[in-house]
Formats: sequence, structure tokens, C-alpha cells
Amino acid sequence: MTVSSAKEKTSHTVKVEIMGKQHYVPEGLTMLQAMWHTGHELTRGVGCLGGICGACPSKYTTPEDAKIKTALACQTQVEEGMSFSLTAAYYPNRKVVSDFKKMEDPKQEIFRLYPETALCRNCDACTRACPKGIDVRTGVWKAAFGQFKEGADLFLSCVMCSLCVPVCIADIAPNQVGLYMRRAQGIFFNEKSSHLLARLEEIEQGKFDAEWEQLLSLSDEAIISKSLA
Ligand code: FES
Repeated sequence: MTVSSAKEKTSHTVKVEIMGKQHYVPEGLTMLQAMWHTGHELTRGVGCLGGICGACPSKYTTPEDAKIKTALACQTQVEEGMSFSLTAAYYPNRKVVSDFKKMEDPKQEIFRLYPETALCRNCDACTRACPKGIDVRTGVWKAAFGQFKEGADLFLSCVMCSLCVPVCIADIAPNQVGLYMRRAQGIFFNEKSSHLLARLEEIEQGKFDAEWEQLLSLSDEAIISKSLA
């Protein structure tokens, strides 16, 4: 989308700097919308636009504060004098393929898969970088101490934007550690839902095969009208 931005300030525009270039954009836009408005073609760094997918990590400064702050660009409104850019939209970080089926003790295994987890130096930079307000540092310590339930709960709203990764002086990828804890907690420690297990067994026994076949035979229009009925 290419829309030219205003050339000068009006009562309804704010002056921003996007990747080093000044623009006037309508107030109330999010950082992502401001980028579209000024003709930036975004092929990466855009996803759900709802703060869920973590595709739009960005960094910005404001005139009052030289400190570089982090945000999700789809969730943060532009303000006068803001200077911003999307980050790389992806930070290379070491993803480990965890084979939970073969694992006996995920609380010990984390030290083999993510040995740096135990090296947190408490600087808290990860927590300050998190646009979702997660207490990331505490979550990493929960992982190191095997307190997966509390750790998994802390990381529940993590969207894997990876803004915590480049700021860690101990080279921990806190988002990956959090994801590992959430998975391990679900597989090994959470109480299993008896209703869900019973339903899965029914599905495997073919109890719903006829309904499923009937659904597959419907046209798109029929599915929509049924779902609206
Ligand atoms: S686009 Fe999905 S979180 Fe911003």
C-alpha cells in the first residue's frame, strides 16, 4: 500500500521518524499503520495485528527519553517526536527440538537443552524488554529451579516476539525456555482432563465419522449458513 504522508504538521498529525526519515502521520495510528501510511511495504513483521502473534517487535525512542524502548508495533500508537523501526522481526536463537516422548525428567533435561538457563545474572533486561509485561527474569529462575507450573503460568501470554533474546547478557533465549516449560508442564505435570481423554477415545473409535463425512460433503455456502443458523 502506498499512501503519501502529509508534508507538514496539522492539528491532527504527529511528526515521527521511521527508520531515520521524518514523516507527518495522522495521530492515533499504530506504528505499523504509520509505516503503511508512509508507503513502507512490509513483507515481514506483520501478522495478526492483534498483539497475539509476536511478528511485529519494534524499537523506539521518544523526545523526553533517550532510552530505547521495545513494543509490538501493531499495539503501540505513534506519538509526537517518536523515532522507531521494526526490529529484524526475527532474532536467530537456538531452538531445540525437544523429544518429550523420550524424556524422563524435563526438569533436568532443561540443563542439557538450554544449559545457559542457570547463568541468569539478574540484570532484568529481559523483563524490561518484554512488550507483554511478563516478569521474564523470574520465569527463567523458575525454570532453573524446576518450578515449571509457576514458570509456565508466567510465560502464558508470551507471543514469542523474541525481544528478550538480544538483551540477555548470559545468552539465554528466555522465550524458548518459557515455551519449553509450558510444553513440559502440559505434557508431564498438569492433571489430564478426563473429559478430553474420553472424547479423544470416542473420536478414535469412529463415533463421529458419519458427521465428519457429512461435513466434508457440504459446500462452503452450506457450512456458512449452518454456522449462522
Ligand atoms: S502483528 Fe501480531 S502481534 Fe503485532
